[in-house]
Amino acid sequence: MSKLPPLGDITVERFLADYWQKDPVVIRGALADFEPPLTPEEFGGLALEEDVESRLIQEQGGDTPWQVRNGPFSEDDLTSLPDTHWTLLVQEINKHVPEFALLQDRFNFIPNWRLDDVMVSFAPEHGSVGPHADNYDVFIIQGSGRRRWQINRNEPTEADLIPDLPLRIMHNFQAEEEWILEPGDMLYIPPGVAHHGVALEDSLSYSVGYRAPTLGDLLSGFYGEAIAAQATESFYSDPDLPAQSQAGEISLRAREAIRRIIRSLATDDAAIDHWFGRYITDIRPGHTVPEPEQPLSFDTLKTRLEEVGELWRSEYCRYAHMSDANGQLSLYVAGEEYPIAKGLLPAAQILTQQRVFSVDDLAPYLAQAEFQALLVELFNFGCLYFPDDEFDD
Ligand code: SIN
Ligand code: CO
Repeated sequence: MSKLPPLGDITVERFLADYWQKDPVVIRGALADFEPPLTPEEFGGLALEEDVESRLIQEQGGDTPWQVRNGPFSEDDLTSLPDTHWTLLVQEINKHVPEFALLQDRFNFIPNWRLDDVMVSFAPEHGSVGPHADNYDVFIIQGSGRRRWQINRNEPTEADLIPDLPLRIMHNFQAEEEWILEPGDMLYIPPGVAHHGVALEDSLSYSVGYRAPTLGDLLSGFYGEAIAAQATESFYSDPDLPAQSQAGEISLRAREAIRRIIRSLATDDAAIDHWFGRYITDIRPGHTVPEPEQPLSFDTLKTRLEEVGELWRSEYCRYAHMSDANGQLSLYVAGEEYPIAKGLLPAAQILTQQRVFSVDDLAPYLAQAEFQALLVELFNFGCLYFPDDEFDD
């Protein structure tokens, strides 16, 4: 059952028009109904685990100011920390704690190809990661304790940063506005807005973070793939070369031939659409999707679905769908494209915007061979799982 967007009195339309990518806003009690899924102790326990990405930032009490260390940590690392002035961060916690995976669904008013991950931050009194600005949008939700947030809308330049630090922290941050976030409150910060959060006491907060490809990444991604697909042994040719009075000139005729070659790479809207679907759902370089211990046939998968009652979408796989410029419906999962019949659009919508699928959600499609094959492939790849599954990885 989908819940209301956590925007308080602000409608989605007004949030998008007035705040998204434009201006910070605090929404009091936005997630007052979100029960903290972790105690600070359980959170600390995650930072000891090998497959969990964690970082410890110590403004004071480390070997140098603003020392950054990467996990996994030992119990001793964490129990020997000073009483104040540090922050422990766990990235991609949505991969490890299902409540944080589901938290992302509350933000379905933003397309989920823009979504990055959920990060959790624990800090004792005075704990902070320093004043800084990010390139991405973030919703910061106060889980427990209080944190004071200050912002400044002027985007910092290199000259504003403390030199020679592993973090991009400002030396001259001036607060323009400030709020004290209490449990359940939420702060939205757009890219480029400087912000500084300092814990007033033991404070746990959750950041639902967004991502956006750089224009350079988009262009090199698309053209890189298009170039790789070209016949490398084809050469520029001019069997119809006319006589030229000025041998030093690059003629209009030659230039037109070159322009045609350059432009030939991006003429087809559908080719760009398909490339983007694969690109934006691809798994991060160096990351892998944990595979199920046992590949399943459709019959076994269906039996297990009936036994367990629900199937989950893996947080290691990004899902999206689109109907391209020619009306072809495709599902994109973890960088793979699955062209599917138009009649399966409601199924594609469910798969890409929910994280948990009940038997009832899937029942209308389970008799269709195309959907059966799709489910089996996604399951065996590791992009769907049963909550009680064991993984190979
Ligand atoms: C934090 O929660 O400690 C840092 C989050 C941020 O500044 O983006
Ligand atoms: Co930040």
